[in-house]
Amino acid sequence: MAAQTVFLGIETSCDETAAAVVSVVDGARPVILSNAVFSQIAEHAAFGGVVPEIAARAHVDALDGIVRAALSDAGTGLAELDGVAVTAGPGLIGGLIVGLVTARSLAMASGKPLVPVNHLEGHALSPRLVADLDFPYLLLLVSGGHTQIVAVEGVGRYRRMASTIDDALGEAFDKTAKLLGLPYPGGPALERAALSGDTGRFAFPRPLKGEARPDFSFSGLKTAVRQAATAIAPLSDKDVADIAASFQLAATDAVADRVARALDRFRNEHPAHSAPTLVIAGGVAANKALRAALEETARCHGFALLAPPLDLCTDNAAMIAWAGIERWRLDLAPVDAMTFEARPRWPLDEDVVPLYGGGRKGAKA
Ligand code: KG4
Ligand code: ZN
Repeated sequence: MAAQTVFLGIETSCDETAAAVVSVVDGARPVILSNAVFSQIAEHAAFGGVVPEIAARAHVDALDGIVRAALSDAGTGLAELDGVAVTAGPGLIGGLIVGLVTARSLAMASGKPLVPVNHLEGHALSPRLVADLDFPYLLLLVSGGHTQIVAVEGVGRYRRMASTIDDALGEAFDKTAKLLGLPYPGGPALERAALSGDTGRFAFPRPLKGEARPDFSFSGLKTAVRQAATAIAPLSDKDVADIAASFQLAATDAVADRVARALDRFRNEHPAHSAPTLVIAGGVAANKALRAALEETARCHGFALLAPPLDLCTDNAAMIAWAGIERWRLDLAPVDAMTFEARPRWPLDEDVVPLYGGGRKGAKA
């Protein structure tokens, strides 16, 4: 009989407290038995962004209940699990510690293996939860904290092809939204405002467009938006909509250009790959204008575009449980799992030279 593997996953690296149970029978598509997420948006809204201390405390308050909900939704007890996977980084240190301590206790109490997982690896492997997707493929990860293009060559084999040299794309959306007086979280609010705006009213820059390296930059765009807004202040609703629409067009245009470079590179590196796939993940993947631009870019370059459902694109614990299973099945779990410490910075490919900010603890971007 084919072997079944069932993992509990725990995710607390930013402002989502999440737990999920994923099961897989060898040779079949995995099944998400439960996927519980508590979003802390309300806790942070008054501050216009995530406050680390508030996040850590909210994780402490919510995590037990979320784990209980995930197990009960899945109809599973700790005894039925084959292991516990937990996000060990990168992210906010307080939240990471809350998740790690909880996961370690559950693993010890139940005698099950613990698998510490890199949050970015969770995003990188998440499409394999919902599609029969073989390695290698390309991943564009665009969230509030990360903007990178990764060649996913296999479990544990990731090659970062591009990163942002300043802001993450979600951060650029959030900061621009704040400047325009739109509510938090800014990305979705800006997309809504842009619907009635004129994309042609402001000619904002497309940073790095045309550069051979597929890296990203958004700070120049942000500055241009600030200057345009200051010049015509106070802003009417129409001004806000027009700036939002012009910003969104410039940002998606810049991303599409950068992604096109990466697709060309990937093609050159894998000439025998007849049907390559570009996967998009992270909260900004919800943006319809970005999706449309990337669909066009992928099509022009002979790539299929795969966007996992939104609840798997944004932060969740099903992707962490799944990454834990993928590692565990290949015997790739860290040997020092029970003493594994939280890593606020933890690049996916640890050998890469950081683009900037290569501090003691590793690359920031
Ligand atoms: O992946 P995610 O849920 O959390 C982390 O950042 O880890 O991504 C959140 C980010 C925020 O910056 C949010 O403003 C952005 O994704 N976002 C959007 C949209 N929905 C979420 N940005 C643009 N358009 C959207 N529709
Ligand atoms: Zn994330």
